[in-house]
Amino acid sequence: WPATARRVDGEITIGGIGVSQLAREYGTALFVLDEEDFRTRARDYRDAFAHTGGDVYYAGKALLTKAVARWVREEGLKLDVCSGGELAVALSADFPAEDIGMHGNNKSEAELARAVEVGVGRIIVDSFDEIDRLDRLAAAHGRVPKVLIRVTTGVEAHTHEFVATAHDDQKFGFALSTGAAQEAVRRVLAAEHIELVGLHSHIGSQIFDTAGFEVAARRVTAFLTLIHAQLGVTLSELDLGGGLGIAYTASDTPLAPKAIAESLLSIVHRECAAAGLPVPRIAVEPGRAIAGPCGITLYEVGTIKDVEGIRTYVSVDGGMSDNIRTALYGAEYTCVLASRGSDAEPMLSRLVGKHCESGDIIVHDLYLPSDLRTGDLVAVAATGAYCYSMASNYNHLPRPAVVAVRDGASRTLMRRESEDDLLRLDVG
Ligand code: LLP
Repeated sequence: WPATARRVDGEITIGGIGVSQLAREYGTALFVLDEEDFRTRARDYRDAFAHTGGDVYYAGKALLTKAVARWVREEGLKLDVCSGGELAVALSADFPAEDIGMHGNNKSEAELARAVEVGVGRIIVDSFDEIDRLDRLAAAHGRVPKVLIRVTTGVEAHTHEFVATAHDDQKFGFALSTGAAQEAVRRVLAAEHIELVGLHSHIGSQIFDTAGFEVAARRVTAFLTLIHAQLGVTLSELDLGGGLGIAYTASDTPLAPKAIAESLLSIVHRECAAAGLPVPRIAVEPGRAIAGPCGITLYEVGTIKDVEGIRTYVSVDGGMSDNIRTALYGAEYTCVLASRGSDAEPMLSRLVGKHCESGDIIVHDLYLPSDLRTGDLVAVAATGAYCYSMASNYNHLPRPAVVAVRDGASRTLMRRESEDDLLRLDVG
């Protein structure tokens, strides 16, 4: 249970504040972020890569608000965005455009034009269409944006198939295996208004061993060498993407930022030395590993239904609209009674939401105390990443608020949506 502690009276605290107080002040369901924890994890990444001149881009898709963008900035990280919306949040938080990397397999003309206009530092190009589009837009704006080419290394990341991204049969990047990556390099070099500075590879997400990253690093470095030999071009940047796993349950064993940094840097150094190439500047893009563990979701228990002889269904005031990950990926979470302690016998439970489908499950199997009652608060751990950012209004549920806690104080980052917010979009 990262980011939380249990008081002697049995109540859970986060950032020095009891969960009952937070629920009273902000209502439930509620996302609570431990700001210090977020900052510490961001700093750990920065420190692991900074001494080698490397860059850490926080992947905003995990969770992005204006305050989060400021934390990222203040801790010395750069920012990865993958849509015009994420870019808009970053810019409105005064995040310097030159420290932003922009992703996307289908960036629109408007998104690319904005990126060029504001001077986004790196645009990661993902298709031949995009190379042409960007070159044309850059010419029209009289700019020469710096680009990385996203390559796919053929590494089969051992993770859920929806979040593995480097095998050949998927939509991202240019395959190294088919010659597409080489062709992309030629095309970018031939384009007059974009400057090729490096390569990008992202193998997937929620990964626990270094093997996949190492194979990818070796393949991308070998490709750098090939480009150098064939085209006489030396690329100065290598972005190895995100994907570092976090502990959702006790059986997950995350890699330390230092371990991943050391393994990647030593491979790239070795391969470059062997090929007589200068070592490129290395970047990584962790999202989940920074935002995930620092967040919890607080829910109030509503209906408790004992399905005779099977298990007890505990329904809470949220569900798949604030956490789609269980339904979508079969993700596992831990959840505890948070507003008080209990010595009651554990009962086999399933934590479910209030949506109109039976797949609306937040935690499949867990033990909650058998004296659990309506009005208790439960907390689900490690929900800082890909929960709020993937939240929906399914069944017209307003999205929960996001609050930050630190040193016993709390503040709203995203206010809770109201029914009026939802109705405002419905113009009749
Ligand atoms: N860089 C690129 C190019 C990415 O596509 C991603 C994630 C990241 C960095 C950050 O990956 P992270 O360090 O957070 O694993 N919604 C899924 C995860 C999808 C990740 C998509 N790309 C989930 O909830 O598990």
